[in-house]
Amino acid sequence: MTQAARFITFEGGEGAGKSTQIRLLASWLESHGIEVLLTREPGGSPSAELIRGLLLKGDVDKWLPISEALLLAAARADHIERTIKPALAAGKWVLCDRFYDSSIAYQGAAGGLGIQRVRDIQQIAFGNMRPDLTVILDLSIEKGLARALSREGAKSDMEDRFERMDKSFHETLRQAFLDIAAEEPERCCVIDADNTIEHIQHSIRSILEKRCKLA
Ligand code: TYD
Repeated sequence: MTQAARFITFEGGEGAGKSTQIRLLASWLESHGIEVLLTREPGGSPSAELIRGLLLKGDVDKWLPISEALLLAAARADHIERTIKPALAAGKWVLCDRFYDSSIAYQGAAGGLGIQRVRDIQQIAFGNMRPDLTVILDLSIEKGLARALSREGAKSDMEDRFERMDKSFHETLRQAFLDIAAEEPERCCVIDADNTIEHIQHSIRSILEKRCKLA
């Protein structure tokens, strides 16, 4: 099957199950003969992975929101140039676990930096790079944090700074993702993540079939 290369990002709060869904989707796309690159943020290139370590470990108030946003933008610029663009140019589909909407929601809305300020920083760092499709997995705060805590043992090196933010942070975050989806319905779709893995995966595939003319 020949398809134009696609850049698809996955967003949501803590414990929404993004990584499981991304892996399942990658296998399904590969079964359609599509070459897929799986990547993640913060990180996704060797230099950006170094910045990831700085961001995710340590005390909750380790960074000012502005410093966090600048580090994330620096990591993202590298990730885009050295990983995402080359993969798209080679005809692969890129599935990315979190992208710039996370900075809008975490640093801009929940972190209090302001959405416009984060947009301005991103504009300087990487211009208008835009996903073709953004899947937002939506889940209540209680369920999301319970799931995130239950997988804590599997996480490497205590990369849990953001999970330890307070409940109002996570409430603001959830609303911020819903607001992004409402503002850009042609790019974003919201999926109810309070469901079985199979059901959520089915919903994601249906959206791809419709929006990416995959069927
Ligand atoms: P990760 O362990 O990948 O968590 P998750 O499974 O929830 O994606 O950690 C990524 C963390 O980084 C997550 O808590 C959200 C945060 N983050 C930001 O605050 N801003 C960003 O721009 C990105 C990409 C992530």
